[in-house]
Amino acid sequence: MNHDDHVRLIAGGIDGDAGGEWADLGAGAGAFSLALRDLAGSGTVIHAVDRDASALQELRQEAERRFPGTALHLIQADMTAPLALPPLDGIIAANAIHYVADQVALLDRWRRYLKPAGRLILVEYDSDHGNRWVPYPVSFAALPALARRAGFGEPTLLGTRPSRYLERIYAAVMVPVPVQQRHIGLRSGHDQGRDSTNRLG
Ligand SMILES: C[S@@+](CC[C@H](N)C(=O)[O-])C[C@H]1O[C@@H](n2cnc3c(N)ncnc32)[C@H](O)[C@@H]1O
Repeated sequence: MNHDDHVRLIAGGIDGDAGGEWADLGAGAGAFSLALRDLAGSGTVIHAVDRDASALQELRQEAERRFPGTALHLIQADMTAPLALPPLDGIIAANAIHYVADQVALLDRWRRYLKPAGRLILVEYDSDHGNRWVPYPVSFAALPALARRAGFGEPTLLGTRPSRYLERIYAAVMVPVPVQQRHIGLRSGHDQGRDSTNRLG
């Protein structure tokens, strides 16, 4: 996939030139940070989180080459741990949640970073059968149950792309269920006090 493919895959989930405060969690070298910046425009602030500092530096270089002046904050951190982020208009997580066994806890935590009208865009392999490289994929068919348990509404499919591995990938968007509509009994009270971030820029 090239930059145009990345843009096409998530375009339906991002309002053109709307800017806003976004995080790319498990950003790596930032293929989807760049697609996001392309779509949402120069008013976009991107907090790119990854535990791999050299991948984040690659993102910095590519962002400066393609979109000079982009407000890009590199955060070397564990995306599953509490992160010090401002209230977000959106989160994108591409090929990232399939590393995490407890995806309900992960998405529940991530939902709390979002503004009430914020959104989460996921890009994932459309499979429920993992392997040693992609241990916990979540298919689009399985996503509604995960979303519900983590306090999100029904996911909307944005697009799919064929993939050499695990058949195909998809992008989906979901928004938090308003607090008053959430089922009593959902997990709450995560430790949000600790901040494990290491800001690189
Ligand atoms: C397959 S790459 C995807 C990169 C990028 N999102 C993309 O789609 O091109 C997965 C990335 O997730 C990062 N990652 C995996 N587990 C992580 C964790 N617990 N905390 C932070 N980063 C993590 C890896 O370092 C890697 O850069």
